[in-house]
Amino acid sequence: MSVNYSRSFRSVGSIALTLSFLVLAACGSKSDDDSVGKSTVSTDKSAALALGSDPAYPAIDIPPVWSSDGKLIQPKDFREMVFIGAPLTPHGLNDGKANFPEFHNVYVQPAAFKAYRATGKWPEGTMMIKELQLVDDPKGDFPDGSRVLPSGRGYFPGAVNGLDVSVKDSKRFAETNNWGYFNFNHAAPPYLAEAALKPSDQCAGCHIANAHEDMVYVDLYKPILDPLPTATN
Ligand code: HEC
Repeated sequence: MSVNYSRSFRSVGSIALTLSFLVLAACGSKSDDDSVGKSTVSTDKSAALALGSDPAYPAIDIPPVWSSDGKLIQPKDFREMVFIGAPLTPHGLNDGKANFPEFHNVYVQPAAFKAYRATGKWPEGTMMIKELQLVDDPKGDFPDGSRVLPSGRGYFPGAVNGLDVSVKDSKRFAETNNWGYFNFNHAAPPYLAEAALKPSDQCAGCHIANAHEDMVYVDLYKPILDPLPTATN
């Protein structure tokens, strides 16, 4: 059963969301003059969280940062962004060879999350950040690698093990439906500091052929992207 871990992931997601909005609210009254036009890595969090701090991405609070030769700099503190879901492809159900093992924890910038909720579109500069997380016991109690906790039989999260990022930028990535794809290693952290664009046949091609909407497998995230219905008694 997956109830236990998915529930705790969701609460992590909502805490991240709450924190992000608090931080955004706190930054709202600040002048962002000093952040306009910044294109290099910033250590100043309040500058990075100002909407439009990069003129190329006016609707984005935490813009993608590029090296002079067009590599994507590893997004900072991505675990503080909004968590939107965790598809799971266990090795145990993929002959020991899942392409992206095993949990895929997906985050987006708070501003991209809000914009999608408001408009149904991902703004320029959206980053989909997928951190891979292995199940905690590769052998498990069953042939499929699952095991049992007091909450039930399931797959439970263990060590993190990789980082993939997609970026929406219609100028840079017009040839691949406006999204570029980057891999910062499929191994334990530390992940690479920067990553070059992956060729289309390794990443974008499959998203072009199969993704649900605008290159994103958005149906998997809708349960969290959609606002909660009002509480009832
Ligand atoms: C064979 C198809 C395929 C290939 C190749 C592929 N992906 Fe994906 N990708 C998927 C699927 C399916 C999902 C959603 C389900 C999941 O995560 O298992 C996904 C999800 C993602 C997500 C989360 C946001 C989203 O679009 O849903 C990112 C980021 C991502 N992939 C990056 C990459 C990168 C980087 C590469 C190349 C290193 C890559 N993908 C190659 C099929 C593919």
